[in-house]
Amino acid sequence: MSHPSLPIFTLPVPFSRIYIVTDPSLSAAVQRASKTLSFSPLVPDITKRVLGLDAPTVASVRSGLEPEPGEPHGYIPDIHDMVYSYLGPGTDLSELTLAATAELAEQVSSQVAGMAESGRGVEPVPDLLVWIRHFVAVGTARFLYGAENPLALDPALEESFWDFDHGLGGLLMGVMPSVTARKAHRGRELLAAAFAEYMEAGRYKNPDVSDIIRRRVEIADAHGWSIDGKARSEVSFLFAGIVNTATTTFWTALHTFARRDLLDAVRAELLANVVVPDTDKTSSVTTLSIDALKTSSPTLLAVMRECLRLGSDNYSTRLVKTDTELAGGQYHLKANSVVQIAGGVMHADTSIWGPDADQFNPARFLKMQQGNGATESSTASAPQVHPAAFRAFGGGKTLCPGRHFATYEILAFVAMIVLMFDIEPLEGDGSELQIPSKDDSIMPVHILEPTKPVRVAVKLREGMSRGIRVV
Ligand code: HEM
Repeated sequence: MSHPSLPIFTLPVPFSRIYIVTDPSLSAAVQRASKTLSFSPLVPDITKRVLGLDAPTVASVRSGLEPEPGEPHGYIPDIHDMVYSYLGPGTDLSELTLAATAELAEQVSSQVAGMAESGRGVEPVPDLLVWIRHFVAVGTARFLYGAENPLALDPALEESFWDFDHGLGGLLMGVMPSVTARKAHRGRELLAAAFAEYMEAGRYKNPDVSDIIRRRVEIADAHGWSIDGKARSEVSFLFAGIVNTATTTFWTALHTFARRDLLDAVRAELLANVVVPDTDKTSSVTTLSIDALKTSSPTLLAVMRECLRLGSDNYSTRLVKTDTELAGGQYHLKANSVVQIAGGVMHADTSIWGPDADQFNPARFLKMQQGNGATESSTASAPQVHPAAFRAFGGGKTLCPGRHFATYEILAFVAMIVLMFDIEPLEGDGSELQIPSKDDSIMPVHILEPTKPVRVAVKLREGMSRGIRVV
């Protein structure tokens, strides 16, 4: 990005223009002008390309997209309202969080049991991201879609899932995707077929399926969606549920294990506040209190937020529906152009984050959290940083509905890894874990991945062979 010091600038593109916003208060102004600057009109075309929706389903996506009061709601506003309210603070979110973290605890405990039983105690892991994202993918598919979820019935689909993820940019281009984005296209089609079978067999009615999935299917049925449409919609929800969470968990764990002092601080905090004391000494299973984790793990939360700041390069995108003035008429946006809020530029801006903006420094978030006393807040709001400057979860009407859930899930999963294991360089030459740079050469559809695999040895910690659970 060659003009990061301008608050907004124009990229000329054939037949239109794109405005790029790099300033937090102007971003907030874009978010507030949601009547004329809206993501919704872009949804039909994006979902058609990325998910391969057929013509009747795209027509349904297009209808009732931005209803005026009193007008009927289409599929998108209905699903949007349900998902935002389900994943907002409350009983549904608490139950989902407990189910999700219990599933992750089972996964981690079975890894622990495997290591303990074999007497190995050490597992060589040639790629830490792949190791972590496998737990997240399998766990998420299971707590959302039940034991008979497509990834459980056909484990090879996990690879199809990552093929789809890694080729999303090509699918978005939409130029003969079966040729130009072959692997992603194939992966998506395999997943869609498996979800169609899941729908056809009525597996979403199984008692171990999360309520949010049953409600999504009900809404699709109410709008007359076909099995294929419903299947593709669930491919997109599984994607939203797994991808960013997996990559953020990886960076959070890696940064924590790479610094001895940070690792010690996080462990001490977890032991003091989050691990439930085994008062009668009857069980050596480590027990995590999810409620305590939400409010009393400030260091881990700060590490996660700093990883999100450094790893997130997303663009919140809006169509300019009619000519729009911003900042009291200082800027004029022309109808039919596109405006994008450049998250990555703002996350690297020294005027927002200070001279060490390019460095990993979780203390900046720790200070902010102490400043506003909040650990549940979704954004890094603090007196000295504009709330719209932290863009990892987007903002305004498209602010990620899964942000609370994702935060708890990542904190819980990293806490489990930190308590159960030591993670060291695979080469075992006494050197420290190295942090690779992030791969910003790709279209940023999610938190950026590392440029190269991180090779590690995962070691079971002494006294941890009984595993972990959550309450
Ligand atoms: C660290 C984890 C996550 C990050 C960084 C993240 C980030 C984002 C971002 C940047 C957006 C688009 C916002 C915009 O355009 O302004 C988004 C949208 C969305 N996210 Fe997340 N997300 C995460 C986890 C999750 C999880 C776990 C779920 C669901 C369980 C989820 C569900 C969604 C959905 C459904 C949308 C689309 C919202 C709409 O209808 O516009 N996300 N997320």
